[in-house]
Amino acid sequence: MRKHIFNAGPCKLSDRTLTNTAKAVLEMGETGQSVLEVSHRSADFQKVYDETVALMKEVLSIPDNYSVIFVGGGASLQFGMIPFNFLKTKAAYVNTGVWSKKALKEAELWGEVVEIASSADKNFTYYPEPKSIKIPADVDYVHITSNNTIRGTEIFEDLDSPVPLIADMSSDIASRPLDVSKYFMIYGGCQKNLGPAGATFVIIRNDFVEKVADRKIPTMLKYSTHVDNGSMFNTPPCVCIYAIRETLLWIKENGGVEGMEKLAIQRCDALYNFLENSTVFTPVVEAGSRSRMNVPFLLRGKYATEALEKTFLEFVKTKNIVGVKGHRLVGGFRASMYNACTMEDVNALIAAMKEFEAKVK
Ligand SMILES: Cc1ncc(COP(=O)(O)O)c(C=O)c1O
Repeated sequence: MRKHIFNAGPCKLSDRTLTNTAKAVLEMGETGQSVLEVSHRSADFQKVYDETVALMKEVLSIPDNYSVIFVGGGASLQFGMIPFNFLKTKAAYVNTGVWSKKALKEAELWGEVVEIASSADKNFTYYPEPKSIKIPADVDYVHITSNNTIRGTEIFEDLDSPVPLIADMSSDIASRPLDVSKYFMIYGGCQKNLGPAGATFVIIRNDFVEKVADRKIPTMLKYSTHVDNGSMFNTPPCVCIYAIRETLLWIKENGGVEGMEKLAIQRCDALYNFLENSTVFTPVVEAGSRSRMNVPFLLRGKYATEALEKTFLEFVKTKNIVGVKGHRLVGGFRASMYNACTMEDVNALIAAMKEFEAKVK
């Protein structure tokens, strides 16, 4: 029996993604070869790759003057590649928790870093008001993390910036319509809204690719290497790319990013409405900053004991629910509800929480 999967990533993928990738593992189209066997240099795979890039551009409304590449190394490698390529003297970072701090730390290796906004004062339980984010004009770029997977906060506005805006969208890409033209670069691990782990997407403005710092950069760490070679300078993550293509087709079939946003709002409203009214559980994040993708929650008041936490995690297992253990930094619980998560999954979680509530009260 398939479980209700709330993992933070890798996470639940659409049935289409799973079924068609599984088929391609046995035989990719009518090529007589598995997607695990086919050469990345073959015309058959090039077709898959080209379609995937075209779908990314279509689904995310990416303007023509941008390139889309898929590379390895995770979003974590991008934390270092961004300053290595683009930090000449000074960069600005918005600090909204673990991932943005990791990105900022890498930048400090290559130049001066200014933290222009932070939610550290309230333990990252909110996203700084977009209007309060004052971006200086004298920095090489500004970096934000649009969705904070661990803390469960998200920004829904595409900022206006006087300098190149770079966003880590690992955990909210393709969950809402986006004005890509406001960004010089958007990147992230694919293992949440786009496909399995192993591929990193980079959407980058073509004129930005060459605006690199005057330092020696290893070939594999230069964006131009991957853009100029259409992600084929080295062997790309072929099977991931295949699965991403299937996910993008599924997104298209389900109303595109507008459809994904509608579903995300439904899921998150249902769970937050329950949490707001619960006497046993409580939400963590301030209203207005609440991520639609990751919802952290805790046991409330007198129920907040380690023993009861364990009991709840054991209890949800009996309901076929997985992935709701909170991140070690926040504790408690977290439900990650990415694009492929259904209302059926969310209702199953809410029903389990209600039943647990009745048991402990
Ligand atoms: C917002 C965000 N950025 C970066 C990362 C790191 O991604 P990766 O594991 O692909 O390096 C994650 C991982 O969950 C994330 O959620």
